[in-house]
Amino acid sequence: MILIDGKKVAADIRSELKDKISQLKAEGKNVPGLVAIIVGEDPASQIYVASKGKACEEIGMRTKTEKLSADISEAELLTLIQSYNQNKDYHGILVQLPLPKHINEDKVIETISHKKDVDGFHPISVGNLVIGKDTFASCTPAGIQELLIRYKIETKGKHVVVVGRSNIVGKPIANIMLQKAEGANSIVTIVHSAAKDISYYTKQADILIAAIGKAEMIKADMVKDGVAVIDVGINRIDDPTKIKGYRIVGDVDFENVSKKALFITPVPGGVGPMTIAMLLSNTFKAYNLYGEK
Ligand code: GUN
Repeated sequence: MILIDGKKVAADIRSELKDKISQLKAEGKNVPGLVAIIVGEDPASQIYVASKGKACEEIGMRTKTEKLSADISEAELLTLIQSYNQNKDYHGILVQLPLPKHINEDKVIETISHKKDVDGFHPISVGNLVIGKDTFASCTPAGIQELLIRYKIETKGKHVVVVGRSNIVGKPIANIMLQKAEGANSIVTIVHSAAKDISYYTKQADILIAAIGKAEMIKADMVKDGVAVIDVGINRIDDPTKIKGYRIVGDVDFENVSKKALFITPVPGGVGPMTIAMLLSNTFKAYNLYGEK
């Protein structure tokens, strides 16, 4: 069994980007920039945004965090986004979700220029992904594909079974794996909560991508021998042996499924670290495609 080390791959990607940015600086060129916009005080969102900012700084990318009060009006937020759409120093715009209830998330996402949509949430980005045009794919799915490529896991003609149909993971990873491209060209099934028997589908998987949000739901008897397992879940379960009283587990029963798998991602340290690495990578891509150098 090969443990897929997302922490290491993410560090490699950050280091590759750092080298490219050093090169730009040495040539006296403008560097890529990412602005993160956060509304309100949600503690988890504050942590995510802080780690995104830190990751940018570490590779020499320009970065700024706009912290807005929870009672900002939708119109004010849209005006701020529009100003960054015009700003030549910031090639990526990230609005941390979720937003307060009085703000329409779809409207916010659609206001971000699709040329700066490094989250890959804009309908133009999603549409381009579906029709196979080069675009920004959302970061977690892009990170999953990167892991498959870097671990040389055969995907062409293989049966990828995605469990979960979210707009952020399930649907985009299914579309990525469907493309006629390197690290894809797979036969894809999406299975979700309406299935009578999820295991009927998961047992067929050569590559199983679990993005359900239910702790350790995928058991050993639901997979076949030799499967490659990508676990996207991040779930808290009570654990009195830990100081915090809980531990983090994935959507896969790692201990038992890992005995049958050929490849498997751990939680934490698998898919998780890839999300920020791909955000940086998407920002670099936005700079390359649309930035003034
Ligand atoms: N909230 C949780 N995950 C994400 C993400 O990937 N991007 C944004 N913008 N908000 C999030």
